Order: sequence, then structure tokens, then C-alpha cells
Amino acid sequence: MKNWISVISLIAVSVLYFNCTNTVLEDLENNPTPPDVAKYNPHVKAVIDAHCINCHGDTNPSAGIVLSNYNDTRFQTETGNLLNSVNNDANPMPPSGLLPQWERDLFQQWVDDGYQEN
Ligand code: HEC
Repeated sequence: MKNWISVISLIAVSVLYFNCTNTVLEDLENNPTPPDVAKYNPHVKAVIDAHCINCHGDTNPSAGIVLSNYNDTRFQTETGNLLNSVNNDANPMPPSGLLPQWERDLFQQWVDDGYQEN
């Protein structure tokens, strides 16, 4: 019985978590005006969770590139790797195709606004 409660709690937390993440993106999709200040959390993280984390999470990340947290994401951005990849027509990230311009702009704005965490 206790196990079931744990499982159900875990599912509830996961659903809540994904709902929150998606809400940030949905708000932006409906009204893609740049935020006053682009921050890692919620903006950059929401884009990564939707489009990158499947391949660049903690476990066996593609090309060894981890984008699951602030420090690693900032590092990949400061090297220029991340912006080059998301804006690369020939070999875009995600590999399925370039993201909409407003999502790519969020990464650039995050840089311009000084890599704020939250
Ligand atoms: C379907 C899996 C997949 C997704 C989704 C994905 N990547 Fe990648 N990524 C890869 C693979 C595979 C490589 C290594 C091969 C290559 O560079 O094409 C890579 C390489 C990279 C590199 C290194 C490129 C270089 O030249 O060193 C960066 C940075 C990167 N990805 C960022 C991202 C970002 C940011 C996103 C989301 C916007 C993303 N990736 C989404 C699979 C993925």
C-alpha cells in the first residue's frame, strides 16, 4: 500500500513539473515577445527541457554535452557551442530542424542579459 502511495505521488509530482515547464513555453508561444530579462530558469530551461534534454541529459549525453543544469548550460553557451548549434542551418540542434526564431533569440538574450540564473 505504501508503495502505491509513493508511485502515485511520483506521478503527480512529474505531471506538475511538466505542466509548469510547458506553461512557460505555451505563454511564450502564444505571445512571443521577449521577457524583460531572459533567465536560465524559467526561460532557457524551458526551451532545453522541450527540445534538448532527451539527448543532452545526465545519462549518456550526446557528444558528452550536458544541458541539465545552469552551470553546464552556461559553459556550453560561453564557449559559443550552443549558439552556433541552434543557429546552424546545415547541422542544427535539435537535429530535427531549427527552432523558431523566438526560441533561439531567448538563448542570445540570456547572454546579453548576463546569464542570470533565476
Ligand atoms: C535527437 C537528439 C538530440 C537533440 C534533441 C539535441 N541534440 Fe545536440 N547533439 C546531438 C548529437 C548526436 C550531437 C553530436 C553530433 C553533432 O554535433 O551533430 C550533438 C551535439 C551538440 C552540440 C555540440 C556541437 C559541436 O559542434 O560541438 C551542442 C552544443 C548541442 N548538441 C546542443 C543542443 C541543443 C542546445 C539542443 C536543443 C536546442 C540539442 N542539442 C538537441 C543530439 C541531439
